[in-house]
Amino acid sequence: MTLRTLLVTSSILGENGQSNALANHFKTQTEAREDVVVTHRDVVANALPHLAIEELGAWQTPAEERSAEQQALAAHSDELLAELRANDVLVLAVPLYNLGIPSQLKAWFDRVLRAGETFRYTENGPQGLIEGKRAIILAARGGQYAGTELDSQTPHLKTMLGLMGISDVEIVFAEGLSMGDTQRDATLKEAFQAIDQLVETL
Ligand SMILES: Cc1cc2nc3c(=O)[nH]c(=O)nc-3n(C[C@H](O)[C@H](O)[C@H](O)COP(=O)(O)O)c2cc1C
Repeated sequence: MTLRTLLVTSSILGENGQSNALANHFKTQTEAREDVVVTHRDVVANALPHLAIEELGAWQTPAEERSAEQQALAAHSDELLAELRANDVLVLAVPLYNLGIPSQLKAWFDRVLRAGETFRYTENGPQGLIEGKRAIILAARGGQYAGTELDSQTPHLKTMLGLMGISDVEIVFAEGLSMGDTQRDATLKEAFQAIDQLVETL
């Protein structure tokens, strides 16, 4: 059986991006696995606009009644939702920018966190509609925050994934990447090893 994996990258630093280096390592390791297919979505190279009321309006308009402009707006989310649903594993390579996720990645979440599609509101609160998926976060940071209150990023990511019903989430941290070459090399080595182990579990 083929395992379909969606790899989402979001570094603005291109080939110098450390989260991209983690993503590339994941990709290379999976190439040795004939049963794993990776689809790569770079949300910086294919940046989405901020979510705005016109796009919400397009979602709320029945497909057959949408204007040409609304069809184009709704297509952003429809395409990303189809891609998410078509994959079994979601891998998010995430840099820490100004203590949060890159705004391009937020724009991606704004398209896949869609009421009535990936979650619904019930009298007991929101209920996720995406079933049976696993997520892996490759978190690259200049400083060290994991396990402290200063890590405002991975709890946010887990909450957003959880809203859709994705609760099986593993995180590989590569921290201290701006704290000198020795620290950077050691943390990347450790993160690559953790990725190797994760790939074995796919
Ligand atoms: C615009 C910008 C903001 C950043 N903000 C932070 C930050 O708040 N905390 C931190 O530890 N590192 C910060 N960094 C460093 C990144 O986390 C670091 O470059 C890491 O490698 C992940 O980003 P990358 O995948 O783009 O390389 C920032 C980097 C950039 C370019």
